[in-house]
Amino acid sequence: MHDRSTPHASFIDPDDQLNNTSANPHFQDVLVKGMSRRGLLRGGLGGAMAAVFAPLGAMSLTACGGDDDNTVAPPTGTPPVDPQTSMALTFAAVGKTLADTSTVAAGYTATTIFATGDPMAAGVAAYKNDGTDSGYHQRSGDCHDGMEYFGLSAAGARADNSNDRALLGINHEYITPVVLHVNGPSARPRPATESQIEIDCHGVSIVEIRKGSDGKFAYVPASTFNRRITAETEIQIAGVARGNPLLVTKYSTDGTRTRGTLNNCGTGKTPWGTLVTGEENWSGYYFRPAGDQALRPAKENTSFARYGRNVTATSAANSRYGWETSGTGDQWAHWNIGVSGATAADDYRYEHNAQGYIVEVDPYSATSVIKKRTSLGRFAHESGAFGNPVVGQPIAMYMGCDSQNEYIYKWVSAANWSAADANAADRLATGDKFLDTGTLYAAVFNDDGTGEWRPLALSNPAVAGFAGYAFADAGDVAINTRLAADAVGATKMDRPEWCGVHPTTGEVYFTLTNNSNRRVAPTGTQTRVNASNPRAYTDVRSGTITQNGNVHGHIVRMKEGSAGSAATTFTWDIYLFGAEAGSDATLINLSGLSADNDFSSPDGLVFSKSTGICWIQTDDGAYIDVTNCMLVAGLPGAVGDGTTPTLGYSGGVSVTTRLGKAPTATTLKRFYVGPYDCEVTGLCETPDGTVMFINIQHPGDGTAAADLADPTKYTSQWPSNGGYGAGKRPRSATVMITKNTSGKIGL
Ligand code: FEO
Ligand code: CA
Ligand code: CA
Ligand code: CA
Repeated sequence: MHDRSTPHASFIDPDDQLNNTSANPHFQDVLVKGMSRRGLLRGGLGGAMAAVFAPLGAMSLTACGGDDDNTVAPPTGTPPVDPQTSMALTFAAVGKTLADTSTVAAGYTATTIFATGDPMAAGVAAYKNDGTDSGYHQRSGDCHDGMEYFGLSAAGARADNSNDRALLGINHEYITPVVLHVNGPSARPRPATESQIEIDCHGVSIVEIRKGSDGKFAYVPASTFNRRITAETEIQIAGVARGNPLLVTKYSTDGTRTRGTLNNCGTGKTPWGTLVTGEENWSGYYFRPAGDQALRPAKENTSFARYGRNVTATSAANSRYGWETSGTGDQWAHWNIGVSGATAADDYRYEHNAQGYIVEVDPYSATSVIKKRTSLGRFAHESGAFGNPVVGQPIAMYMGCDSQNEYIYKWVSAANWSAADANAADRLATGDKFLDTGTLYAAVFNDDGTGEWRPLALSNPAVAGFAGYAFADAGDVAINTRLAADAVGATKMDRPEWCGVHPTTGEVYFTLTNNSNRRVAPTGTQTRVNASNPRAYTDVRSGTITQNGNVHGHIVRMKEGSAGSAATTFTWDIYLFGAEAGSDATLINLSGLSADNDFSSPDGLVFSKSTGICWIQTDDGAYIDVTNCMLVAGLPGAVGDGTTPTLGYSGGVSVTTRLGKAPTATTLKRFYVGPYDCEVTGLCETPDGTVMFINIQHPGDGTAAADLADPTKYTSQWPSNGGYGAGKRPRSATVMITKNTSGKIGL
């Protein structure tokens, strides 16, 4: 989802909305009873964690007073062992550029392999790319985003280590309407043909890729593995909210299924070989009529206030694309969530409650059931990153909610992991086992560098007794996760986007992309700087455009307590602060970024399991007068390896934060810059680390409908200007990056 406020002045970035005006800007002293307070730091460390964190045992207990051992010491003791001291990034950094092309480091080649509209079934016509194409339920969707790699054997079976045949699971987050129709989108009421194209361009692609005789991957247009999941594909409701009264609709009177997955942003790959995809800005797809608030219980309006779609007696909540205006049939009617029937089974008043989840897909069968994993919570989901599985311990999954001042979450399964789970034949049954039953937590970041996971469960008195919303049952808690996290006093963060787990240390990294609501001296609904979100400043773009808050974002990382996946405490620091290299070193460029690695608004974040490189992708609106969005390679150390600088603001305000070890010229480098008007996102690789895939989302989306007849006026002509496909309209696409000599990408 792009972040530009201009030059597209009419575009309101749905990511950058404020729905959290709850009264918990800081740690609240909420009494949490019934939680295990013992055993978390007992029993020592095992396996790789012990090797990496030899000093941890000594440092983690030093500050724990009394018998309360469910705490960890601030990360200020003996510096942890750097897991990557012997590694260095050897490629020459790519300079910042506004060129309308794929610019990759010297010695590497970037090749477009799969773009919006490409055929995905036998007999589908080649894409003309002139606005006349249709049948997108058998073509690539638009706005490629999160992406995962699923190895395939020559015989067509799951083969995790395959380096020459695979399935890519690709999210299609939203659409660039201007390029999908001959003259751009028509006014409302929307023609059904246009709405059908737009609905089909959403969702997920499962697409086969295979190496040819030239040793390079190409996608397989007629593969029987290819699958399109769209905004109207039937999906089962799984987990704690399945069958909940708040999910009853005319389509599913028992609340067990729904149609469509919306605004699929980040992804994850489960340890049992399936895809998980996060539903992010789904709220805006629905029309809610003026006056609807008077037809509902107060609780439902509280939920709307927290998730979007508030209305008044005279003001409706208009839908993003107007699909509900395309006809009176049920296909269109379910995009209008107004109360109109006698009961919930007679209308779509709860249709929106079936969006906002992590959705699990088994990529190895094009007809497999798809499941929304409601126990993982309902919010603006980004990626889902799994902790490194340990036999005999629960599975941990980390997730962010991307809106201003929203929270970081962790899921902990009730079941313990066993080696056999990794390769169980029924992958969705394994998903049932690990993703339906367990505990969801929200994160509290204390200013001293410690943190706490607080359970979002009715067994937690803070949830059960929450004055802001009376949860009816566990399903209601899951459907209204944001309210439950408010109840436990979770810490408001600067828009949590993707997360990733370091393959060696197990530490968890979250991008906090930016927050225009953060202030040193907040007024109204603005949020005050704190240790984990310490910056607020003014950035100038193009000489005249000013942006305030934490404009460039940062990357926070967390080290779990010694209970590992089940820990309810953690320590944290900030791996990197985004900044322009020339900006103030004491208040903005705290990580000392240089011209070779400065970046703004980190969004995608993926660790290579092959090299350990932390790949950071940007979705920026602040540095775009100087450079297009980019991909940066990092070799991080570990929590606590840096300093504790104090930011002194005017007015006597100061904030002490926790800053990771400063990057060097060989531990942080810009590797790639995308074409104009794009976001760089979605990253996966072959298991041997020699081929990387990334996605370019919405290049040229600043193009005006009035300029469609004149390609020279398109703000981007990528990827056709690189020789890919017909027409000159810009297209989202998957890019393959290979090394010209043999070897792993980035090293
Ligand atoms: Fe889809 Fe928050 O980016
Ligand atoms: Ca600037
Ligand atoms: Ca994103
Ligand atoms: Ca973003």
